[in-house]
Amino acid sequence: MQLLAFTVGLGLLFVAGAMMPPLTPARAEQLLGKWYIKRWAGDMPIPEWKWRDPLPPFTFERNHFEELEFRMNLTKPIGCIPFKLTLYEGEDLGTFLTWWRHLIYIHFLPGKNFAIAYFRGKMNYRYYQIMMLMGRTLNTNVESLKIFKEFMRSKMGQTAKTKKPPHAEACELPRDS
Ligand SMILES: *[C@@H]1O[C@H](CO)[C@@H](O)[C@H](O)[C@H]1NC(C)=O
Repeated sequence: MQLLAFTVGLGLLFVAGAMMPPLTPARAEQLLGKWYIKRWAGDMPIPEWKWRDPLPPFTFERNHFEELEFRMNLTKPIGCIPFKLTLYEGEDLGTFLTWWRHLIYIHFLPGKNFAIAYFRGKMNYRYYQIMMLMGRTLNTNVESLKIFKEFMRSKMGQTAKTKKPPHAEACELPRDS
């Protein structure tokens, strides 16, 4: 019992430490609609050119089971590929779980027009992290970028750099697909 309390306590500490003020946890309902990926940061073993892939906007929608779904239409040489990922709201506010039980934190910046999504996972016996700044518009916003950079440095150190993905238009799927 004590061990359980201790573990839960640690979990809460991690959440609090993971998201400093002025961030507020996002609920699924508040995330619905269209978003643009403004910046990336992370130490995932991804080749540098991959980071330069143009990224289309994505949406959060409710699927037929009323679950939250991340959707993005990706332009590939063979055409337009719809990508979907279901997210389940976790017990802690602002946490979302994938089917593989990956835990993703999504917290709003003040005003709720920007949010930071954060993931830390293990790959090839090593921990890595990945984070993004997402926004409701493509407009530049100095304040949101400042907060994102602060957040990134708290996670990855002072020398960490953000990556700005080129923007792509979402491709349109044929109507009958
Ligand atoms: C993907 O394409 C379909 C069909 O054109 C469109 O209805 C949908 O809104 C697009 N989704 C995103 C996330 O852009």
